[in-house]
Amino acid sequence: MKKLKNKNILIGITGSIAAYKACDIIRIIRKAGGNVQAIMTHSAKQFIGKSTIAALTNNPVIDSIFEDDPKPGLEHINLAFDIDMVLILPATANIIAKAANGIADDSLSLALSICEQPTIFCPAMNYKMWRNKANLDAVEKLRKRGKIIVDPEDGFLASLHEGKGRLANTQRILNNIQSVFDIKLPLKNKNIVITAGPTQEPIDGVRYISNRSSGKMGFAIAETAHNLGANVTLIAGPNNLKDIPGITMIHINTASDMLEAVSEKLDSDYIVMNAAVADYRPKNINPSKIKKHEAKLNIELEPTVDILDYIKDKTKACIIGFALEMENLEENALDKMNRKKLDFIVLNTANNINQGFDVDTNQVTIFSSSGKKIKSDIDTKERIARFMWNEIID
Ligand code: CTP
Repeated sequence: MKKLKNKNILIGITGSIAAYKACDIIRIIRKAGGNVQAIMTHSAKQFIGKSTIAALTNNPVIDSIFEDDPKPGLEHINLAFDIDMVLILPATANIIAKAANGIADDSLSLALSICEQPTIFCPAMNYKMWRNKANLDAVEKLRKRGKIIVDPEDGFLASLHEGKGRLANTQRILNNIQSVFDIKLPLKNKNIVITAGPTQEPIDGVRYISNRSSGKMGFAIAETAHNLGANVTLIAGPNNLKDIPGITMIHINTASDMLEAVSEKLDSDYIVMNAAVADYRPKNINPSKIKKHEAKLNIELEPTVDILDYIKDKTKACIIGFALEMENLEENALDKMNRKKLDFIVLNTANNINQGFDVDTNQVTIFSSSGKKIKSDIDTKERIARFMWNEIID
């Protein structure tokens, strides 16, 4: 965030419940040395106090075209010359429509009609408003004119409805601000494929063999890589997690589906095999439901292809494997790293309730083929993912 030092950023706050989230962004920009001038629309002030924004920006808030104490020359015109970037956060359907159509009937739309600086819109609204054709047309118009739109995310909205309309997460917004000032992201332009979750190997028409992997660690690794600027493909086994916006999602079921999907991506820069891939699958799949006629049922299993083993000599990518161990932890992990010719292996265990499968926290030890070893604290999977990327990029 160094390059934000002394940058002048105009933030336009409009009337959405997400207006309070502008406070956090203003604080982060100011902490990085940037200056912030805010314009609030009339509706924005229904959601958040003008004094809060004035205090956080350390500047008087502009909220009217005609100030009580008019200064020589329009303040809005001066803005057009002084600022380095405009950020509309949150952006309602109303301001998007006005900006797309050149309407300038309040202080913010007037400023937008003048400012030619890079402009980022961060929409936040009800999902029905977002997908309204008029809104999507307006968004498209703005994009065609070179404005940056940070798409809203799927999730629970203030109305408790679920859909696309939530303000993008803070990191995505900051990444967009950084890219305006060409602040380098360490994984920019890197192609990264990540596998996550379990695989399901069918026994018959309704049953399968699988494991307890939730996919949370792999999703956190994917989202962190995306936030660090990478083009990410996430190949995910069955899970209950939400697709991550901005990431190419490939949903698969079996180990052989996963092998096929990974094989398509061998020209990537990094391949992270976090998935808990089944080692065996039923040899014969009964197409309908097996009936319980017999006193004993034997299911013959055959090994699946080891994906890492299969790809190790077919790619130039940096390969990161995971080892989930319950005994002889380090010895088993190092053995896997050497056998599978990995650049890194991330060891985790399922021996404690706050580590490994199906929980939100983890603890890992990372070994590199060059002999390095580093252990993390027990932490959220998001922070563990960041820890992992820091080590690998290093
Ligand atoms: N893996 C793989 N293909 C498989 C099985 C595992 O690519 N068919 C990968 C996993 O994604 C992980 C690494 O190999 O990155 C180690 O997986 P793990 O299950 O810990 O070890 P295995 O090699 O399967 O050995 P074991 O089950 O005996 O511990």
